[in-house]
Amino acid sequence: MKPVVFITRKLPEEVVLPLQEKFTVRMWKSESESVPRDILLKEVAEADALWSVIADRIDKEVFEAAKNLKVVSNLAVGFNNIDTEAAQSKGVIVTNTPGVLTNTTADLTFALLLATARKLIEAESELRKGNWKSWTPMDYTGMDVGGATIGIIGMGRIGEAVARRAMGFDMKVLYHNRSRKIEAEKAYGFEYAELDDLLIQSDFVVILAPFTPETKGLIGQCELALMKKTSVLINVARGGIVDEEALYDALKNNQIWAAGLDVFEVEPVDPNHPLLTLPNVTVLPHIGSASIRTRIGMMNLNANAIIDVLEGREPENRLV
Ligand code: DGY
Repeated sequence: MKPVVFITRKLPEEVVLPLQEKFTVRMWKSESESVPRDILLKEVAEADALWSVIADRIDKEVFEAAKNLKVVSNLAVGFNNIDTEAAQSKGVIVTNTPGVLTNTTADLTFALLLATARKLIEAESELRKGNWKSWTPMDYTGMDVGGATIGIIGMGRIGEAVARRAMGFDMKVLYHNRSRKIEAEKAYGFEYAELDDLLIQSDFVVILAPFTPETKGLIGQCELALMKKTSVLINVARGGIVDEEALYDALKNNQIWAAGLDVFEVEPVDPNHPLLTLPNVTVLPHIGSASIRTRIGMMNLNANAIIDVLEGREPENRLV
């Protein structure tokens, strides 16, 4: 009998084909809706490989239900949706998709930073509503990006790629990270800062850290209170790193100037979420890595990892 692969979202034919040539492939029928939990548990019971997306909670229950599972390949660089300890204790390999999405995510981070700083979305939507009556001296005036100080929390590959883009805007780059990036400091002049100092000094605070028990709620009331009144917070990592209630208060009370969010504590975010009622918040539906080439590249990494594991080879991008 051929090994069974279960894919939790409908994916493009071109990326699934190489698996179909070798294995029995089952795929959830919807591209936009998550596989229901009961179907996931039923499918994983028979699967040798699971191809998951970040909306799937791959926890202990899933690993308990699995009988033949050898690999979970996650369509993301982040893997906070997977209980890697449970995977390890069951001897299941977990892989992710780093590298291919670095520049794409850094581009989106910068796009969101610029859009938030210069009120692009608000200005565009007012024009479309017919509210552009005349050139005005102070309407839609925002914050300068060029020459400002950017503080990057989480200086991994994407953080460094954002920092290099910031250099093109003559920005001073501060960063906070678990470990120092001495080579990047020497090569580009990036400066390490303790979190508090970074928050106090930065005009733009950009979150690019992984979501872990240590980073959960990292930016709360006290941290937001340290930021400048003219500062902008950008989160492109995971929603849970920021305390959303505290962020709402800080934005509402003009403690900080604006926020740009590509991620939320609960996704998809409720359109009635308090943060979405504020004019100084720019929101996106978690599209950091969403370019055609990158998404296909990520999927090819997943497919190759599954093929490697099921054919007895060590896969690339193994987490556990
Ligand atoms: C990731 O890769 O972790 C993104 O958040 C999903 O594209």
